[in-house]
Amino acid sequence: MTPVEEELRARIAREGPISFRDVMDAALYHPKYGYYTNLRGFGAAGDFITSPERHPAFGWLLGRQALEVWEALDRPAPFRILELGAGSGALAESLVGFLRTETELTNLVYTVDEASPSLREVQRQRLTDPAFRWEGTEDPAHFILANEVADALPVHRAVVRQGHFYELLVDADLQWTEAPVPHAQIEAYFAEVHFTPPEGSIVDVCLELEAWLETITRRFKQERGLALVIDYTASPPRDSLLTYYRHTLGSDPLIRLGQQDISAHVDLRTLVRLGIKAGLKAGAVAQRGLLYNLGFPQVQARLSGMTDRQALAHLVDANAAGGQIVAVFLLRGMPDFKPAGAVGRDWPEPRAVPSLPPDADETDFLDQWQEAFNLK
Ligand SMILES: C[S@@+](CC[C@H](N)C(=O)[O-])C[C@H]1O[C@@H](n2cnc3c(N)ncnc32)[C@H](O)[C@@H]1O
Repeated sequence: MTPVEEELRARIAREGPISFRDVMDAALYHPKYGYYTNLRGFGAAGDFITSPERHPAFGWLLGRQALEVWEALDRPAPFRILELGAGSGALAESLVGFLRTETELTNLVYTVDEASPSLREVQRQRLTDPAFRWEGTEDPAHFILANEVADALPVHRAVVRQGHFYELLVDADLQWTEAPVPHAQIEAYFAEVHFTPPEGSIVDVCLELEAWLETITRRFKQERGLALVIDYTASPPRDSLLTYYRHTLGSDPLIRLGQQDISAHVDLRTLVRLGIKAGLKAGAVAQRGLLYNLGFPQVQARLSGMTDRQALAHLVDANAAGGQIVAVFLLRGMPDFKPAGAVGRDWPEPRAVPSLPPDADETDFLDQWQEAFNLK
């Protein structure tokens, strides 16, 4: 039994069945035993891989979106970027790498707001550019980024019975049990999206989305700016809980509590609606479109190695991250601004594009043909 399981079983024995929201919160963010509390990395070293981990071109291309916002705001000094949930720092590193090598934007403050103490440590080791800050996160921001952070917010789980939503609670044996009466907030949520899923459907709903959006709006502090929220989407919400343990995808979030990742796709359409309600201009584009609009073909044309090609293909694959992940644009005080990530623009030829070191397969392959043709 994991320490999180032990604590939750004791709590449920005292209090009776609890919301899955609390189980997910403890599994991911328990101050001592939570999955994210102790996580040190992603990719080969961890349980799953995100777009910036897959290829540095992801952060590098988003750097172009940052640059465009800086220009549209008449080049504020310093230009303030805020990244929520920066993970291993991969996105921050390649984005700032772009700004440092391809642009004249030098006066930069890049603040990271990271919930995980272990990942904060990893970031501090990795991100050595003087632009990076971890403290003073209440500074206003011009450009805000959150990649695959909203899908790590705890969700409620419910089942549909005769048009009503009954919460699925977790009992002392860590099994699902249906609440006796419908859940008022989940009912109100679905009334807002004008949708009732078919009888018996299970839905995973983040009731914290609005409060999370408010933290973003607050960070603009009445200044003009753009926030990009990028995530796997399920609009309207459905049964979308996923777990990752050592690169194996699963769907039972009640096992290995504290030792496996749990995520739920994000109702990004509701985020857009809430953004508009909060006075922001809002729109969305699939990750594939976002990266193409930011000049993905230029990167692709410069990189011919197998490792690069495979990783780049995944980022824009309509059946994988390219199609399933959506970028939401939330604009404050910039009514006429059309972000390049949403509408495209002609980009100058880059000086250099980032690449991955060849992996073992690629090195073997190169060695073999170089030997065959006596090139070594
Ligand atoms: C799935 S990881 C994504 C990491 C990174 N953005 C990437 O794309 O590789 C989720 C990240 O969000 C962080 N996180 C989750 N909830 C957060 C919150 N409320 N505030 C700040 N960081 C949060 C986690 O600790 C973790 O670093």
